Amino acid sequence: MSSATIDRIGEHEGGEVTLKGWLYSLRSSGKIAFPQLRDGTGTIQCVAKRAVIGDDAFDTLRHLGQESSLSITGTVHADERAQGGYELQVTGIEVFQDASGYPVTKKEHGPAFLHDHRHLWIRSKRQQAILRIRHLCVRAIRDYFDDRDYLLFDSPMFTPNACEGTSTLFGTEYFGKTAYLTQSGQLYQEAGAMAFGKTYCFGPTFRAEKSSTRRHLTEFWMVEPEVAYADLDDVMDLAEDFLVEVVAYVVEKGRKHLETLERDISVLERVQKPFPRMSYDEACAQLEELGEPVDKDSDFGSPHETKLTQQYDRPIMVHRYPSVVKAFYFKEDPEDSARAMGVDVLAPEGYGEIIGGGQREDDLDVLVQKIADHELPQEFFEWFLDLRRYGSVPHGGFGLGLERLVCWVCGIHHIRESIPFPRTIDRLVP
Ligand code: 4AD
Ligand code: MG
Repeated sequence: MSSATIDRIGEHEGGEVTLKGWLYSLRSSGKIAFPQLRDGTGTIQCVAKRAVIGDDAFDTLRHLGQESSLSITGTVHADERAQGGYELQVTGIEVFQDASGYPVTKKEHGPAFLHDHRHLWIRSKRQQAILRIRHLCVRAIRDYFDDRDYLLFDSPMFTPNACEGTSTLFGTEYFGKTAYLTQSGQLYQEAGAMAFGKTYCFGPTFRAEKSSTRRHLTEFWMVEPEVAYADLDDVMDLAEDFLVEVVAYVVEKGRKHLETLERDISVLERVQKPFPRMSYDEACAQLEELGEPVDKDSDFGSPHETKLTQQYDRPIMVHRYPSVVKAFYFKEDPEDSARAMGVDVLAPEGYGEIIGGGQREDDLDVLVQKIADHELPQEFFEWFLDLRRYGSVPHGGFGLGLERLVCWVCGIHHIRESIPFPRTIDRLVP
């Protein structure tokens, strides 16, 4: 007998195995029972006969509740009709706990109920597929940068200042001072890039998003590469190459999970270079024609992003937004000082912005002025200004929101299903 997991059960065909897991579902009659066991790697159909396992075991099994913990021993048989291609002919069971009254049953539950039971809901097939895809996205992201000699350079979580505007800061008492949870690791990556050439960070970031939308969390994960001697075009090239590779990896390794989610994989297979690139002004002209005009020099709202991305079969890159809607650190467009050298990558099918980034202001005097214009306290940025005093070079990078990526890749509607325990304005528990 050997230890086995359901995802690799085929390696044990014809042999006897013991699987340790939980009861996913159960059908039975007086003589035969069909428990479906899940072990975290998948589910398998089992066939238990009274005549084989005996009256006691059979009667125990028949009355177990959903999510009872048990191990099942049996022989592995290939069966085309069975989900996953195999079934287990049961020879014995051992029950660890009979779980009765498990709340997340097979019937339809509303989202509030499911989120209240998130700690249990994650045992369901669909949530498992999403979280497996999330893991694959993380692996693909790390591999992308590691394989290209970016240094993993962790940004701090406690910061003295805002990076992305003061309206979404979470403050916390810090030994008599106020610290803020980081909104973005970017400023520290700029120090890293000046030290190491190419760096990235990948960790949680926090924004006190006061509205509840399907695209915003208060705690989300962001990967942020930063590169010295890079301009806006280099950043766009990087973002494009990165997304193509990451999506291809996830499609290759995660096909069965995408199938569980009934994701249209052909949409993901079309994520190929080149991505259409257009300036903000070009995008506005197009939106005007499409009947979704943008107020002068305003940021796009989600109706604009949806309308625009629906015109394309792959992500698009919109660059040179109005400086007034962008953070203080963007470099001015040398051809139009009212435009910032930033780029947003918008995912198709209405998913909208998944990446924001661009070229940074590398001139000391201009940056000092921008910090003042944004009414930010210069004293906290002195270290950041040092990067412009000592060996300043053109540089840039971007941030990709992991959960936005997961939503789009999985084709799910609401961002709160893309992370194990979502944090939003109205949810801190569980
Ligand atoms: O566009 P943002 O605000 O850019 C930055 O933070 C830059 N400092 C990144 C950089 O250049 N290093 O955020 C980047 C991405 C967005 O495109 C989006 O994917 C995600 O972070 N994001 C959120 N995801 C979930 N919930 C939120 N509240 C998010 N806010 C931003
Ligand atoms: Mg943005």
